[in-house]
Amino acid sequence: MSKPKVFVTRIIPDKGLELVRDFCEVDLWVGNLPPSREELMRRAQGVDGLLCLLTDTVDGELMDAAGSQLKVVSNYAVGFDNIDVDAATVRKVPVGNTPDVLTDATADFAFALMMSAGRNLMAGDRYVRNGKWQTWEPMLLLGVEMKGATLGLVGFGRIGKAMARRAVGFDMRVIYYDPNETRHDPDVKATPVDFETLLEESDFISLHTPLTPDTHHLIDSEALSKMKPNVVLVNTSRGAVVDLEALYEALKFKRIFAAGLDVTEPEPLPANHPLLTLDNAIIMPHIASASKVARDKMAWMAAKNLIAGLKGDHLPNCVNPQVYR
Ligand code: DGY
Repeated sequence: MSKPKVFVTRIIPDKGLELVRDFCEVDLWVGNLPPSREELMRRAQGVDGLLCLLTDTVDGELMDAAGSQLKVVSNYAVGFDNIDVDAATVRKVPVGNTPDVLTDATADFAFALMMSAGRNLMAGDRYVRNGKWQTWEPMLLLGVEMKGATLGLVGFGRIGKAMARRAVGFDMRVIYYDPNETRHDPDVKATPVDFETLLEESDFISLHTPLTPDTHHLIDSEALSKMKPNVVLVNTSRGAVVDLEALYEALKFKRIFAAGLDVTEPEPLPANHPLLTLDNAIIMPHIASASKVARDKMAWMAAKNLIAGLKGDHLPNCVNPQVYR
Protein backbone atom coordinates (compact mmCIF):
# COMPACT_ATOMS: atom_id res chain seq x y z
CA MET A 1 0.00 0.00 0.00
CA SER A 2 1.36 3.42 -0.91
CA LYS A 3 2.25 5.86 1.83
CA PRO A 4 0.35 9.14 2.28
CA LYS A 5 2.02 12.15 0.66
CA VAL A 6 3.03 15.08 2.81
CA PHE A 7 4.81 18.38 2.31
CA VAL A 8 7.08 19.38 5.19
CA THR A 9 7.98 23.05 4.80
CA ARG A 10 11.23 22.98 6.79
CA ILE A 11 13.74 20.56 8.27
CA ILE A 12 12.57 19.86 11.83
CA PRO A 13 14.55 18.03 14.55
CA ASP A 14 15.51 14.44 13.76
CA LYS A 15 13.14 12.24 15.69
CA GLY A 16 10.01 14.05 14.52
CA LEU A 17 11.17 14.00 10.92
CA GLU A 18 12.11 10.31 11.15
CA LEU A 19 8.65 9.51 12.46
CA VAL A 20 7.08 11.37 9.55
CA ARG A 21 9.37 9.59 7.08
CA ASP A 22 8.46 6.17 8.53
CA PHE A 23 4.82 6.74 7.83
CA CYS A 24 4.74 9.07 4.83
CA GLU A 25 6.19 9.86 1.45
CA VAL A 26 7.86 13.16 2.33
CA ASP A 27 8.48 16.16 0.14
CA LEU A 28 10.86 18.21 2.31
CA TRP A 29 11.64 21.86 1.70
CA VAL A 30 15.35 22.35 2.35
CA GLY A 31 15.78 26.01 1.34
CA ASN A 32 17.40 28.46 3.75
CA LEU A 33 14.31 30.62 3.65
CA PRO A 34 10.68 29.47 3.82
CA PRO A 35 9.09 28.40 0.54
CA SER A 36 7.61 31.31 -1.41
CA ARG A 37 3.85 31.49 -1.78
CA GLU A 38 4.12 30.10 -5.34
CA GLU A 39 6.31 27.24 -4.19
CA LEU A 40 3.98 26.47 -1.30
CA MET A 41 0.97 26.42 -3.62
CA ARG A 42 2.80 24.21 -6.09
CA ARG A 43 4.24 21.71 -3.60
CA ALA A 44 0.99 21.44 -1.65
CA GLN A 45 -0.87 20.12 -4.70
CA GLY A 46 -2.10 16.59 -4.17
CA VAL A 47 -0.73 16.16 -0.62
CA ASP A 48 -2.62 14.33 2.10
CA GLY A 49 -0.98 16.31 4.85
CA LEU A 50 0.96 19.49 5.43
CA LEU A 51 3.51 20.00 8.20
CA CYS A 52 4.15 23.72 8.26
CA LEU A 53 5.79 26.50 10.24
CA LEU A 54 4.60 29.83 11.59
CA THR A 55 6.31 31.42 8.59
CA ASP A 56 3.88 29.73 6.17
CA THR A 57 0.50 31.29 5.45
CA VAL A 58 -2.00 28.47 5.25
CA ASP A 59 -5.34 29.79 4.03
CA GLY A 60 -8.35 28.50 2.10
CA GLU A 61 -6.64 29.18 -1.22
CA LEU A 62 -3.71 26.99 -0.25
CA MET A 63 -5.96 24.23 1.06
CA ASP A 64 -7.92 24.31 -2.21
CA ALA A 65 -4.68 24.18 -4.16
CA ALA A 66 -3.75 21.11 -2.10
CA GLY A 67 -7.05 19.46 -3.01
CA SER A 68 -9.99 17.78 -1.31
CA GLN A 69 -7.81 14.79 -0.27
CA LEU A 70 -6.01 17.05 2.26
CA LYS A 71 -6.59 15.41 5.63
CA VAL A 72 -4.53 17.43 8.09
CA VAL A 73 -2.49 20.58 8.67
CA SER A 74 0.07 20.25 11.45
CA ASN A 75 1.73 23.44 12.63
CA TYR A 76 5.19 23.25 14.20
CA ALA A 77 4.29 25.92 16.80
CA VAL A 78 1.82 26.51 19.58
CA GLY A 79 0.61 29.75 17.95
CA PHE A 80 -1.46 29.25 14.82
CA ASP A 81 -2.24 32.78 13.59
CA ASN A 82 -0.53 31.81 10.32
CA ILE A 83 -3.41 29.42 9.61
CA ASP A 84 -6.94 30.32 8.63
CA VAL A 85 -8.55 27.89 11.06
CA ASP A 86 -12.10 28.77 9.95
CA ALA A 87 -11.17 27.92 6.37
CA ALA A 88 -9.76 24.58 7.58
CA THR A 89 -12.85 23.84 9.66
CA VAL A 90 -15.19 24.53 6.73
CA ARG A 91 -13.12 22.04 4.71
CA LYS A 92 -13.18 19.55 7.61
CA VAL A 93 -9.41 19.68 7.88
CA PRO A 94 -8.14 19.32 11.47
CA VAL A 95 -5.32 21.67 12.45
CA GLY A 96 -2.70 20.60 14.98
CA ASN A 97 -0.37 22.68 17.15
CA THR A 98 2.30 22.02 19.80
CA PRO A 99 1.22 23.34 23.21
CA ASP A 100 2.80 22.65 26.63
CA VAL A 101 6.20 21.42 25.50
CA LEU A 102 7.58 24.94 24.99
CA THR A 103 5.98 26.56 28.04
CA ASP A 104 9.05 26.46 30.28
CA ALA A 105 11.53 27.35 27.56
CA THR A 106 9.43 30.37 26.63
CA ALA A 107 8.86 31.50 30.22
CA ASP A 108 12.60 31.14 30.95
CA PHE A 109 13.37 33.29 27.95
CA ALA A 110 10.78 35.94 28.82
CA PHE A 111 12.34 36.13 32.28
CA ALA A 112 15.79 36.42 30.73
CA LEU A 113 14.52 39.31 28.61
CA MET A 114 12.99 41.02 31.64
CA MET A 115 16.24 40.79 33.53
CA SER A 116 18.46 41.68 30.57
CA ALA A 117 16.42 44.71 29.56
CA GLY A 118 15.91 45.78 33.18
CA ARG A 119 19.63 45.58 33.99
CA ASN A 120 21.14 46.75 30.66
CA LEU A 121 22.85 43.45 29.88
CA MET A 122 23.19 43.95 26.15
CA ALA A 123 24.12 47.62 26.50
CA GLY A 124 26.78 46.64 29.07
CA ASP A 125 28.22 44.02 26.77
CA ARG A 126 28.37 46.49 23.89
CA TYR A 127 30.02 49.02 26.22
CA VAL A 128 32.80 46.57 27.03
CA ARG A 129 33.26 45.31 23.47
CA ASN A 130 33.40 48.86 22.13
CA GLY A 131 36.30 49.67 24.44
CA LYS A 132 34.34 52.21 26.49
CA TRP A 133 34.94 50.59 29.89
CA GLN A 134 37.51 52.69 31.73
CA THR A 135 36.70 52.35 35.43
CA TRP A 136 34.08 51.28 37.96
CA GLU A 137 31.43 53.98 38.14
CA PRO A 138 28.66 54.50 40.71
CA MET A 139 26.15 55.61 38.09
CA LEU A 140 27.05 53.36 35.18
CA LEU A 141 24.15 51.61 33.45
CA LEU A 142 21.74 51.74 36.37
CA GLY A 143 18.79 49.39 36.06
CA VAL A 144 15.60 48.39 37.83
CA GLU A 145 15.13 45.75 40.54
CA MET A 146 12.78 42.82 40.51
CA LYS A 147 12.30 42.28 44.24
CA GLY A 148 9.04 43.85 45.34
CA ALA A 149 8.25 44.94 41.78
CA THR A 150 4.88 44.24 40.19
CA LEU A 151 4.88 41.89 37.23
CA GLY A 152 1.90 42.38 34.92
CA LEU A 153 1.07 39.44 32.68
CA VAL A 154 -1.09 40.02 29.64
CA GLY A 155 -2.55 36.56 29.07
CA PHE A 156 -2.76 33.96 31.79
CA GLY A 157 -2.58 30.71 29.88
CA ARG A 158 0.16 28.11 30.27
CA ILE A 159 3.08 30.48 29.70
CA GLY A 160 1.56 33.32 31.73
CA LYS A 161 1.16 30.95 34.69
CA ALA A 162 4.72 29.66 34.29
CA MET A 163 5.86 33.30 34.51
CA ALA A 164 3.84 33.82 37.68
CA ARG A 165 5.46 30.74 39.26
CA ARG A 166 8.93 32.03 38.43
CA ALA A 167 8.11 35.48 39.81
CA VAL A 168 7.49 33.99 43.27
CA GLY A 169 11.21 33.22 43.53
CA PHE A 170 12.00 36.87 42.81
CA ASP A 171 9.62 38.19 45.47
CA MET A 172 7.50 39.92 42.88
CA ARG A 173 3.84 40.78 43.11
CA VAL A 174 1.98 39.32 40.13
CA ILE A 175 -1.12 40.73 38.48
CA TYR A 176 -2.61 39.58 35.21
CA TYR A 177 -5.14 40.57 32.61
CA ASP A 178 -6.96 37.84 30.72
CA PRO A 179 -10.47 38.32 29.38
CA ASN A 180 -11.00 34.56 29.57
CA GLU A 181 -12.12 33.97 33.15
CA THR A 182 -11.60 30.22 32.99
CA ARG A 183 -7.87 30.96 33.04
CA HIS A 184 -7.95 31.79 36.75
CA ASP A 185 -6.05 29.25 38.85
CA PRO A 186 -6.22 29.46 42.66
CA ASP A 187 -2.93 27.51 42.89
CA VAL A 188 -0.98 30.27 41.15
CA LYS A 189 -0.35 33.39 43.20
CA ALA A 190 -1.56 36.17 40.92
CA THR A 191 -4.37 38.71 41.00
CA PRO A 192 -6.65 39.35 38.03
CA VAL A 193 -7.02 43.03 37.12
CA ASP A 194 -8.42 44.99 34.21
CA PHE A 195 -6.11 46.02 31.38
CA GLU A 196 -5.85 49.63 32.47
CA THR A 197 -4.87 48.70 36.04
CA LEU A 198 -2.24 46.34 34.69
CA LEU A 199 -0.75 49.09 32.55
CA GLU A 200 -0.74 51.58 35.41
CA GLU A 201 0.56 49.37 38.22
CA SER A 202 3.16 47.13 36.59
CA ASP A 203 6.93 47.58 36.79
CA PHE A 204 7.43 44.73 34.32
CA ILE A 205 4.87 43.80 31.66
CA SER A 206 5.16 40.51 29.81
CA LEU A 207 2.88 39.61 26.90
CA HIS A 208 1.55 36.06 26.58
CA THR A 209 -1.52 36.43 24.44
CA PRO A 210 -2.29 34.92 21.05
CA LEU A 211 -2.51 37.31 18.10
CA THR A 212 -6.17 37.88 17.25
CA PRO A 213 -8.06 40.88 15.84
CA ASP A 214 -8.59 41.93 19.49
CA THR A 215 -4.92 41.81 20.45
CA HIS A 216 -3.50 43.34 17.26
CA HIS A 217 -1.55 46.44 18.44
CA LEU A 218 -2.95 45.98 21.94
CA ILE A 219 0.18 47.80 23.06
CA ASP A 220 -0.20 51.05 21.16
CA SER A 221 0.70 54.66 22.01
CA GLU A 222 -2.30 54.98 24.30
CA ALA A 223 -1.40 51.82 26.25
CA LEU A 224 2.25 52.91 26.44
CA SER A 225 1.25 56.33 27.75
CA LYS A 226 -0.44 54.69 30.74
CA MET A 227 2.64 52.71 31.77
CA LYS A 228 5.06 53.75 34.51
CA PRO A 229 8.20 55.51 33.29
CA ASN A 230 10.40 52.74 34.75
CA VAL A 231 8.47 49.86 33.16
CA VAL A 232 10.18 47.05 31.26
CA LEU A 233 8.03 45.62 28.47
CA VAL A 234 8.68 42.11 27.21
CA ASN A 235 7.06 40.42 24.23
CA THR A 236 7.46 36.71 23.50
CA SER A 237 3.98 36.28 22.00
CA ARG A 238 3.50 37.66 18.50
CA GLY A 239 5.09 40.77 17.06
CA ALA A 240 1.88 42.44 15.93
CA VAL A 241 0.58 42.62 19.51
CA VAL A 242 2.87 45.67 19.85
CA ASP A 243 2.78 48.74 17.63
CA LEU A 244 6.51 49.11 17.03
CA GLU A 245 6.32 52.72 15.86
CA ALA A 246 4.67 53.71 19.12
CA LEU A 247 7.15 51.62 21.09
CA TYR A 248 10.08 53.27 19.33
CA GLU A 249 8.78 56.71 20.32
CA ALA A 250 8.21 55.64 23.93
CA LEU A 251 11.71 54.14 24.22
CA LYS A 252 13.46 56.95 22.40
CA PHE A 253 11.97 59.65 24.61
CA LYS A 254 12.43 57.45 27.72
CA ARG A 255 8.72 57.37 28.46
CA ILE A 256 9.34 53.75 29.46
CA PHE A 257 12.57 52.22 30.71
CA ALA A 258 13.27 49.38 28.28
CA ALA A 259 11.83 46.66 26.10
CA GLY A 260 12.86 43.10 25.35
CA LEU A 261 11.30 41.72 22.19
CA ASP A 262 11.59 38.17 20.94
CA VAL A 263 8.98 38.85 18.28
CA THR A 264 8.47 41.83 15.99
CA GLU A 265 6.28 43.05 13.18
CA PRO A 266 7.61 42.31 10.62
CA GLU A 267 9.90 39.34 11.09
CA PRO A 268 12.71 39.56 10.43
CA LEU A 269 13.07 43.18 11.54
CA PRO A 270 15.01 45.03 8.81
CA ALA A 271 18.60 45.74 9.86
CA ASN A 272 18.00 49.48 9.42
CA HIS A 273 14.93 49.57 11.67
CA PRO A 274 15.09 52.58 14.05
CA LEU A 275 14.50 50.36 17.10
CA LEU A 276 17.92 48.83 16.51
CA THR A 277 19.55 52.20 17.17
CA LEU A 278 18.26 52.29 20.76
CA ASP A 279 20.28 51.02 23.71
CA ASN A 280 17.14 50.37 25.77
CA ALA A 281 15.68 47.86 23.30
CA ILE A 282 16.74 44.22 23.05
CA ILE A 283 15.61 42.45 19.90
CA MET A 284 15.88 38.69 19.52
CA PRO A 285 15.16 36.58 16.41
CA HIS A 286 12.05 34.74 17.71
CA ILE A 287 13.94 32.15 19.75
CA ALA A 288 12.03 32.00 23.05
CA SER A 289 11.11 28.35 22.50
CA ALA A 290 14.54 27.49 21.14
CA SER A 291 15.80 25.06 23.74
CA LYS A 292 16.88 21.74 22.27
CA VAL A 293 14.43 19.89 24.49
CA ALA A 294 11.47 22.06 23.51
CA ARG A 295 12.19 22.05 19.78
CA ASP A 296 12.64 18.23 19.79
CA LYS A 297 9.35 17.79 21.57
CA MET A 298 7.61 20.21 19.22
CA ALA A 299 8.84 18.14 16.27
CA TRP A 300 7.60 14.95 17.86
CA MET A 301 4.22 16.47 18.64
CA ALA A 302 3.84 17.98 15.16
CA ALA A 303 4.69 14.56 13.66
CA LYS A 304 2.14 12.82 15.90
CA ASN A 305 -0.56 15.33 14.94
CA LEU A 306 0.24 14.87 11.26
CA ILE A 307 0.15 11.08 11.40
CA ALA A 308 -3.03 10.96 13.47
CA GLY A 309 -4.73 13.17 10.89
CA LEU A 310 -3.52 11.00 8.02
CA LYS A 311 -4.89 7.91 9.76
CA GLY A 312 -8.23 9.61 10.34
CA ASP A 313 -7.68 9.61 14.12
CA HIS A 314 -8.29 12.62 16.34
CA LEU A 315 -5.18 14.79 16.57
CA PRO A 316 -3.58 14.69 20.03
CA ASN A 317 -3.58 18.51 19.92
CA CYS A 318 -6.25 19.91 17.68
CA VAL A 319 -7.17 23.59 17.56
CA ASN A 320 -10.45 23.04 15.71
CA PRO A 321 -12.03 19.94 17.34
CA GLN A 322 -15.37 21.00 15.86
CA VAL A 323 -14.27 19.19 12.67
CA TYR A 324 -15.05 15.94 14.48
CA ARG A 325 -18.67 16.84 15.18
C1 DGY B 1 5.17 29.20 18.81
O1 DGY B 1 5.30 27.98 18.95
O2 DGY B 1 4.09 29.72 18.55
C2 DGY B 1 6.40 30.04 19.00
O3 DGY B 1 6.21 31.34 18.62
C3 DGY B 1 7.59 29.43 18.32
O4 DGY B 1 7.96 28.34 19.05
